[in-house]
Amino acid sequence: MSEIVRAPGGTIVIFVLGGPGSGKGTQCSKIVKDFGFVHLSAGDLLREEQQNPNSKDGDLIKTYIKEGLIVPMEITVKLISKKMQESKSNIFLIDGFPRKLDQAEFFCKNVVEPHFILFLDCDKEVMKQRLLKRGETSGRIDDNIETIEKRFKVFKEESLPVIEYFEEKEKVHRIPCTESPDEVYLKIRPLLEGLSK
Ligand code: C5P
Ligand code: MG
Repeated sequence: MSEIVRAPGGTIVIFVLGGPGSGKGTQCSKIVKDFGFVHLSAGDLLREEQQNPNSKDGDLIKTYIKEGLIVPMEITVKLISKKMQESKSNIFLIDGFPRKLDQAEFFCKNVVEPHFILFLDCDKEVMKQRLLKRGETSGRIDDNIETIEKRFKVFKEESLPVIEYFEEKEKVHRIPCTESPDEVYLKIRPLLEGLSK
C-alpha cells in the first residue's frame, strides 16, 4: 500500500463510530458547522469511488455495500489517507471508520493514533426506524430491511470489537443517542471545545 502516508505531527483524528443509523453523519455536520474540522465519511468516500467510472474497485464496492459487508481495508484506508494528504487542515473527523479490527490496528500503526473516539450508542429499534425512514428518500442500495439486518449483524460481530479495542486504550467517549440530534449534540460539543486548529 504505497499510497499510505503517516500523518504529520500535530494531526488530530477523531473517529466517530456507531451502528448504522446511529447519527454519525448528522452529528458530524453539526461539529463541522461549529468547529470547521474536516469531515471524512468512509461510507461516502466508498460510494463516491463506486460511482467513479475510472475506478477498478467500483463493482466490488457495490457488492459489499449491497450485502452490508466491510469493504477490504486496502481500498478504504487508501481513500481516507489520500483525502488527509490533500487537506491543509490538521483536525479530522473520520466517520464510519474503522469498522473492523484490522482497519483500526493498521491505521493506528501506519497513519496516526486517534485522539479519541466518539461512540454513538443507540438502541437497535431506533436505528432501524431511522434507516427505514431514510430509505424512503435516500436512494441508498443498503437502506432496505434485508440489508439493514445484515448491517446490524456485521456491526455487532465486526465493529463492536473495535470499540472494545479503543476502550482498552481509554479513548472512548460513549454518547447515548436515542434522543433528538440537538440533544445528542449538546453532549458532544463540550468534548471538542478544547481542540483548536
Ligand atoms: O457508514 P455508512 O453507513 O455510510 O456505510 C455504508 C456501507 O459502506 C457499510 O455498510 C459497508 O458496506 C461500507 N463501509 C465499509 N467500511 C467502512 C465504512 C463503510 O465497508 N469503514
Ligand atoms: Mg453515514
